[in-house]
Amino acid sequence: MKESEYLTIDEALNRDSGTVHLRGWVYRERKSKKVIFIVLRDESNVIQCVISKEKNPEIFEEAKKLTIESSIKVSGTLKKDDRAPTGYEISVSDLEIIQIAEPFPITAEQSPELLYDNRHLWLRSRKLTAVLKVRHTIVGAIHEFFRIRGYYEFDAPIFQPIQSEGGSTLFEVKYFGDTTYLSQTWQLYAEAAIFSLGKIYNMGPTFRAEKSKSSRHLAEFWMAEMEAAWMKLDEVTEVAKDEVRFIIQEVLKHNRKELEILKRDINLLEHYAKEDYPIIKYAEALDILRNEYKMDIPWGKDLRTIEEEKIGEYFNVPVVVTHYPTKIMGFYKPPSEDTPEEALCFDMLAPEGYCEIIGGSERSLLVEDMIERLEAEGENPKKYEWYFDLRRFGSVEHSGYGLGVERVVSWICGLDNIKDAIPFPRTMTRKKP
Ligand code: 4AD
Ligand code: MG
Repeated sequence: MKESEYLTIDEALNRDSGTVHLRGWVYRERKSKKVIFIVLRDESNVIQCVISKEKNPEIFEEAKKLTIESSIKVSGTLKKDDRAPTGYEISVSDLEIIQIAEPFPITAEQSPELLYDNRHLWLRSRKLTAVLKVRHTIVGAIHEFFRIRGYYEFDAPIFQPIQSEGGSTLFEVKYFGDTTYLSQTWQLYAEAAIFSLGKIYNMGPTFRAEKSKSSRHLAEFWMAEMEAAWMKLDEVTEVAKDEVRFIIQEVLKHNRKELEILKRDINLLEHYAKEDYPIIKYAEALDILRNEYKMDIPWGKDLRTIEEEKIGEYFNVPVVVTHYPTKIMGFYKPPSEDTPEEALCFDMLAPEGYCEIIGGSERSLLVEDMIERLEAEGENPKKYEWYFDLRRFGSVEHSGYGLGVERVVSWICGLDNIKDAIPFPRTMTRKKP
């Protein structure tokens, strides 16, 4: 048999009947005296295979050896069977064992930690396979979204000598007898490149030493960022809303099957794909919290998870919150001209408890103000001279934002923990396998 004659399980299911040749792994097996049932798994789907002792005594003897995750090739005839997991069954006429797997360490009732220890094997689960496929669509959608709109892809260094999102989450690394840091964001370098390319985007690994065991924080994650010259807050928030809607539309177009495996509410995703998303100011968010939820947050305090959850619940679609208090924002988020206590910045909060998925802002053009704010953070502004140059040579207003890829994957897939949105999660308490 030539390898090209093998079908994927999905291709076989589409044939509806006839003889098919498949290859894959034993997902489940059930052996009785007269018949052996194998659920075969490949990258596309699962299908039930039956081996009858009466019809094929030799194959039946061979099949007795099969264990979970053994690799096999089978040939047989396909027929509809409503009792089978995917509605079809293969009556096996040929079986080739490629390898008998050792006892698989993952069984039905496993502690989450054991699953993370065996992540290299757990990737084969139907759940993670479905998540990885949705992630593939999301990543592709992000590239497509920006490329269609004329944004250039631009890469920034991962080793960076300065912080931009707070010194406390920097990863310091040895650098030829000196030290440097892993990238917390692509943004500062992107701000240099808009003078050359105008509108740019990127998706890349991002590092934060988050001392948090929340279900929302990774130490290594992927951020999809954009930056555009001449753009102001009102326009950049519209880009962000369009991007999120586009991503959901693409997932609905390509991943119905995966969403079903993940038991995700598809009607809800359809709702997110077509609704407009409200834009409110931080001050209005405080009003909603006070009036609707009896949560009295003093002006000037950042919103915590519990408060973001309530805002998400109130609107039941992603909501853009702008104008957070300047004093709690990063040095590059500019004060509003009329109300300098408010910054020209925004977050997008996802509903269903998923909270912040995007953070962005206009970029400050006020060198003196940035110097003061950096000093207040205990930073040496001298290290930012190259960044201030961008305000000295043809400075123009510009804006951008970053979308947390795993936050969006988590939300769209309806995951309990962000660790399942990335193949090999890295957190404060997990750095292997
Ligand atoms: O809000 P953040 O910190 O914004 C920035 O870094 C800006 N410099 C981006 C920009 O304007 N170009 O991070 C952006 C997004 C967050 O909204 C969140 O979705 C995600 O990145 N994020 C994380 N995701 C997983 N684990 C973490 N530890 C994350 N920290 C931020
Ligand atoms: Mg943020």
